[in-house]
Amino acid sequence: RQQKREEGVNLLELASRFFRERLALGGGRQAREYLERRGLSQEIIRDFGVGYAEDEWESLKRYLLEQGISEAVQVEYGLLVHREETGRTYDRFRDRVVFPIRDWKGRTIAFGGRVLGDAKPKYLNSPETPVFHKGRELYGLFEARQANRQLSRVLVVEGYMDVVALAQFGIRNACATLGTALTNDHLQRLFRLVDEVVFCFDGDNAGRQAARRSLQTALPSMIDGRQVRFLFLPEGEDPDTLVRQEGQEAFENRITCASPLSEFLFEQAAEGRDLKQVEGRERFVTAVLDALKHLPEGVLKSLLLKELSVRSGIEPSQFADWFEKHAVPAP
Ligand code: UTP
Ligand code: MN
Ligand code: MN
Ligand code: MN
Ligand code: MN
Repeated sequence: RQQKREEGVNLLELASRFFRERLALGGGRQAREYLERRGLSQEIIRDFGVGYAEDEWESLKRYLLEQGISEAVQVEYGLLVHREETGRTYDRFRDRVVFPIRDWKGRTIAFGGRVLGDAKPKYLNSPETPVFHKGRELYGLFEARQANRQLSRVLVVEGYMDVVALAQFGIRNACATLGTALTNDHLQRLFRLVDEVVFCFDGDNAGRQAARRSLQTALPSMIDGRQVRFLFLPEGEDPDTLVRQEGQEAFENRITCASPLSEFLFEQAAEGRDLKQVEGRERFVTAVLDALKHLPEGVLKSLLLKELSVRSGIEPSQFADWFEKHAVPAP
């Protein structure tokens, strides 16, 4: 198992170096211009190991074969695509800017590739492989740990470019899920490292939806001492576009002012409900209770129940009845 990992990492490291070299060579000119248009500095390109996969079907494949790495292994680690119908294999990443995804030790375990133009899909990720499990890895976490002697807070954003742009502007504690929703695994990983997680998704419907889902995912992890907050961006912006417009200080102020979980929770429960009417308040209260039943017992839960009691005028003892009737089934 361990040997397998070494083999894979070795091969992915070779691929990563190959992509970096391609970016620097003549064939990488358009990619270099693209990165320049996106405002990426040389330094940040180097720190994050950004590279380029040429517009060729067998460029990486040939290189790795020369290094003695079989097609089968290249397929296994997601670098080659294998076509069942024809039996042929070809490079998965072609004519894309390539971001290496690194594990906690800095070993390359996968890649994300972005098209230079508007083609679809915009981003292509490595598939699940023996060393890469999307639902567990966070892009940029290694780099964040590298840049900070002691991390106390991590920012979770949507995209590669968001992580890289924030880092370039001095905000070096962001990481991104890899085209998947935040999982419990992600969160456990983060809370082993820091006490505070700030979600900062794009200012669009998908981003707001991701925030609501992340709230649900976070609830069972909210043991006392941990903090989760939500930073909502102006419509149409993502961390990349915003930090470029506003700069580091303004963006950091936004982080400081991000909504605590409690505030977002009450806001969510109140949304679309008329709290002047009994029925609206009833839905509000049950929505809050439905969230709180996923929260571990502790000070936070007690305080939230107290707050709910104040806001609704309902005696806290009545909440206990509700919880009994709506118990969460054991996992
Ligand atoms: P976005 O659509 O917000 O892209 O997707 P972005 O990060 O702002 O990209 P730029 O600024 O246009 O370059 C957010 C993230 O969702 C995943 C990627 O991880 C992306 O960074 N994604 C998006 C995919 O995996 N595939 C896609 O086709 C699109
Ligand atoms: Mn988006
Ligand atoms: Mn973007
Ligand atoms: Mn975006
Ligand atoms: Mn529920």
